[in-house]
Amino acid sequence: MNQESLVLYDPIFQCLTLAGVAAKEGRHVTTEDLGIIENAAMVVDTENTRIIWVGKSKDLPTQYQGIVNRYTCETEVWIPELVECHTHLVFAGDRSHDFSQRAAGKTYAEIAAEGGGILTTLSHTRNASFETLFETAQHEIERFQKLGVGTIEIKSGYGLSLESELKILHCIKALQQNTSVQLVPTFMPAHAIPPEFKGRADDYVKLICEEWIPEVAKAELASYFDVFIEEGYFSVPQAELLCLKAIDHGLHIKIHADQFKSLGGTSLAVKLGAHSVDHLDNITASDIQLLSRSNTVAVLCPGASLFTGTSYAPARQLIDQGARVALTTDFNPGTCPSRNLPLMTTIACAQMKMTVAESIAAITYNAAAALGLEKEIGSLEAGKQFRVCQLKAQSYEVLPYYFGELE
Ligand code: NIG
Ligand code: FE
Repeated sequence: MNQESLVLYDPIFQCLTLAGVAAKEGRHVTTEDLGIIENAAMVVDTENTRIIWVGKSKDLPTQYQGIVNRYTCETEVWIPELVECHTHLVFAGDRSHDFSQRAAGKTYAEIAAEGGGILTTLSHTRNASFETLFETAQHEIERFQKLGVGTIEIKSGYGLSLESELKILHCIKALQQNTSVQLVPTFMPAHAIPPEFKGRADDYVKLICEEWIPEVAKAELASYFDVFIEEGYFSVPQAELLCLKAIDHGLHIKIHADQFKSLGGTSLAVKLGAHSVDHLDNITASDIQLLSRSNTVAVLCPGASLFTGTSYAPARQLIDQGARVALTTDFNPGTCPSRNLPLMTTIACAQMKMTVAESIAAITYNAAAALGLEKEIGSLEAGKQFRVCQLKAQSYEVLPYYFGELE
């Protein structure tokens, strides 16, 4: 190893490695699992931006004591860089009118049935130029980054024609070339049934399977495939056809399930070995059991529940039964226009009775697991990427405490 490429950070006021969370693969997280080190030190190899050593400052091995490039961070708390594992970040327009309608008593389903909801964003996004989508999305990524996020999953799904879906996926690719944030692209053509296919959902599913999935996979524009299982959207059998085709083409699976009604999406996700199943506000008791025994990550969206005035997912039951639980903003114009992942920990702790330790694991290690990236990011351990969220604070406990306002 080239000594000149090494950097030493010493001391760091407080460093959370999450080594215990990683060792338990994100299940049954306790405060002890956060691996809290007061007066820590870290050695990083700048050649590959990987952590070489982390521990107590007083235990720094002799071979690193002579490192010339060194920094003191005695006013900082370090935690793994935050991972945002579920967004619909590329879209045009807003849905403030939907919000007004909900405030006046209409439900999400009623607004959608009247042609609003996702279809409003669909028409704005179809009409928007590549450049407009790119600039808006770039600004959104910067907002996430300012709040400690270093990896963001982004779904297509507001185009719903091959041309518009490709516009969004190419936009994500271009965004990746212009940001240090790591982006994970997901193809989500089954987000809603587009107007041209009204009453012909099976024909739309067939088209996605036969033409769109092969084309997107061949162009390597996505790592994941996602589908919205819900009444008025896609059924379990339709989702299964889509996911099997996507798996055939080398894509990994995520599923939106049990947001408003439980239709069996969670069982399908587990059966298919999906990396995550997301929302789960109305998951059944038997599906909680099934999911908790699987490797599929339960991605919860407290911001969407808060914003739509609907019930929160049963985080406590999932965690107590051993599920790997992650938290996300679910950033999108309809159900959660917030880019504030720390705020999601506040809601999760205050409303869903998650502990602070669980909520921190949920936006780092478990969110990384929802993207299949837990061997690379999500904890601060030797061999992992040097991706750190640096807080100007006395304790990591400020993260949920300041209601989404971080320094
Ligand atoms: O995750 N549930 C489906 N998709 C989004 C909402 C999309 C929208 O309303 O525009 C969600 O909540
Ligand atoms: Fe979503």
